[in-house]
Amino acid sequence: MALKTLNDLNFKDKRVLVRVDYNVPIKEGKVTDDTRIEASLPTLKKLLSEGSSLILMSHLGRPKGGPEDKYRMGPVAQKLSELIGQEVRYEATNGPASKEQQAFVEKAPKGSITLLENTRFDSREETNDPELSRILASYADVYVNDAFGAAHRAHASTEGVAKFLPGAAGYLLEKEISTLSKLLNNPESPFKVIIGGAKVSDKIGVIENLLDMADEILIGGAMAYTFFKAQGGKVGKSLVEDDKLDLASDLLERAKAKNTKILLPSDSMCAQEITEGVETKVYPSDDIPEGWMGLDIGPEAIKTYQDSLKDAKTILWNGPMGVFEFSPFNTGTNEVAKTVAHLDGFTVVGGGDSVAAINKSGLADKIDHISTGGGASLELLEGKTLPGVAALED
Ligand code: 3PG
Repeated sequence: MALKTLNDLNFKDKRVLVRVDYNVPIKEGKVTDDTRIEASLPTLKKLLSEGSSLILMSHLGRPKGGPEDKYRMGPVAQKLSELIGQEVRYEATNGPASKEQQAFVEKAPKGSITLLENTRFDSREETNDPELSRILASYADVYVNDAFGAAHRAHASTEGVAKFLPGAAGYLLEKEISTLSKLLNNPESPFKVIIGGAKVSDKIGVIENLLDMADEILIGGAMAYTFFKAQGGKVGKSLVEDDKLDLASDLLERAKAKNTKILLPSDSMCAQEITEGVETKVYPSDDIPEGWMGLDIGPEAIKTYQDSLKDAKTILWNGPMGVFEFSPFNTGTNEVAKTVAHLDGFTVVGGGDSVAAINKSGLADKIDHISTGGGASLELLEGKTLPGVAALED
């Protein structure tokens, strides 16, 4: 099935309803990371160049189905206006389908940009209520979805609305899908995957699906200790998912059967508590004394991972190697960020924490693709169909 793209629809002088993912961090009324807004600009500029008027919609945070001042779209409208160099019409309303919002949209002049209030201020958004989709669709002639980060949600603004208007994927959504799908379909070998994070349960689907495609899977983060404990290792008081021990053993068995190498960190940077400046010691990851916990991959593991990655032709990194919010437990994550950035192979980074580490390293422009989706990229890599994407297929 083919994804409909901007080439498949006519936007000349049309009113276009665009779903974007402007779920961005905001502090004291200011957007603190505008990556997702920046990433939507090529689509918006293309549509404006066709003489269309844009009605943009996005969720922000997780309000409980009604208006909450801290989740209003005002700061986003301001940031978008700065980045695109044009006024962005916005009015604080009770929701994207409220009477005052409808009146505001009606007054939108040709060529203007209007940003609707947070879609999640309407409880019908998350239940994918057709009535909300119908009202949103009534604002425009065509629908464009560029919200890759929200494409795994079957919501009124991401999925339902496509039933009421001709729709297509924007440039960002199209690029995310084609790049991440490339990893699943014939990635150039050796394909090496670095997976980190606290819980095996969050990444199990991805690891399982990639066992068939990857040559090596390098594990970091606290999830490693569930694997070590499953093999009888001593992990002190490291974070372990005791109800996932069988699953971890089973994964290791299956990897062996498929000839996919799973690398676990041979040593760990350990401490007795998680605080800045605490005493640290390096222990073998399967022999951590009582009272100590592994909080980052150790120096030997960093070296092994760096060596392993050298010959990779395709690299996917998702998830931090340790408790990277606290120094010195950010060393593993930072070293992996630097290593990945300098590799010659095709590099893809996804997941908020790994993306933040890459951005902090100042090497983001050396990565071939940085995904704007957290949950969405994981679900795609698990091999799942994303409802927001399926809705735009022929
Ligand atoms: C994200 O930040 O991953 C997306 O915007 C989705 O947000 P959600 O998990 O609140 O649906």
